[in-house]
Amino acid sequence: TVDALVNNAGFSRTAGFLQTDPEAHAAMIRVMLTAPIELARLFAPGMVERGHGRILNVASLAGRMPATGGDTLYGPIKSFLIKASQGLHLELRGTGVHVTALCPGYTLTEFHDANGTRAEVSAAYPGWMWQGADHVARVGYAACEANRPSVTPGAMNNLLAGLAKHLPDRMALAMVGGHAKRLKRI
Ligand SMILES: NC(=O)c1ccc[n+]([C@@H]2O[C@H](COP(=O)([O-])OP(=O)(O)OC[C@H]3O[C@@H](n4cnc5c(N)ncnc54)[C@H](OP(=O)(O)O)[C@@H]3O)[C@@H](O)[C@H]2O)c1
Repeated sequence: TVDALVNNAGFSRTAGFLQTDPEAHAAMIRVMLTAPIELARLFAPGMVERGHGRILNVASLAGRMPATGGDTLYGPIKSFLIKASQGLHLELRGTGVHVTALCPGYTLTEFHDANGTRAEVSAAYPGWMWQGADHVARVGYAACEANRPSVTPGAMNNLLAGLAKHLPDRMALAMVGGHAKRLKRI
């Protein structure tokens, strides 16, 4: 019996679309897109039957931002997860099953060690832009308990997502293009 599902596993590849092995692209899609959907489909029916359940999908601020170069698939995969979470949230409203997408910005974990970009991101972004993993987890837990469809921890991250949403596409893309250049990804 599974009462709570946290789809958290994830990683990124930042070498560029053409330089990344097709199998690595397929693995990103499997781990961060296919697996969360299959697991939700597997466990949600039992949760609905018991009238209680929690599904927390760890997406990313990247899913609320325009596309970036270098890690071409990461943002779109996270956008998909946000939208899919919101749809399932609506569908399961009133059943006792809560579904939430958590959209963290830069968070201190092993993520940037695993993708080999620790030095670049630390140099490009000041300490105050980084959040602790425990804080991000608490925000996600509280949002899921409150049955919010999505949550983005941190005022600065919400400001960036708001800017990206309201700026014309051309300007929003330029804003994020600067990010990819700063990280030497394009
Ligand atoms: N850190 C950030 O700045 C940040 C920002 C926004 C969103 N996120 C998202 O937060 C989630 C958690 O990442 P994190 O920051 O905690 O990074 P992390 O410290 O690198 O942890 C990633 C986790 O995913 C697991 N994982 C990676 N590839 C896997 C695979 N092929 N199969 C099964 N498990 C796999 C890892 O397991 P192993 O240790 O066994 O490999 C590890 O437990 C991810 O979905 C990421 O996209 C992170």
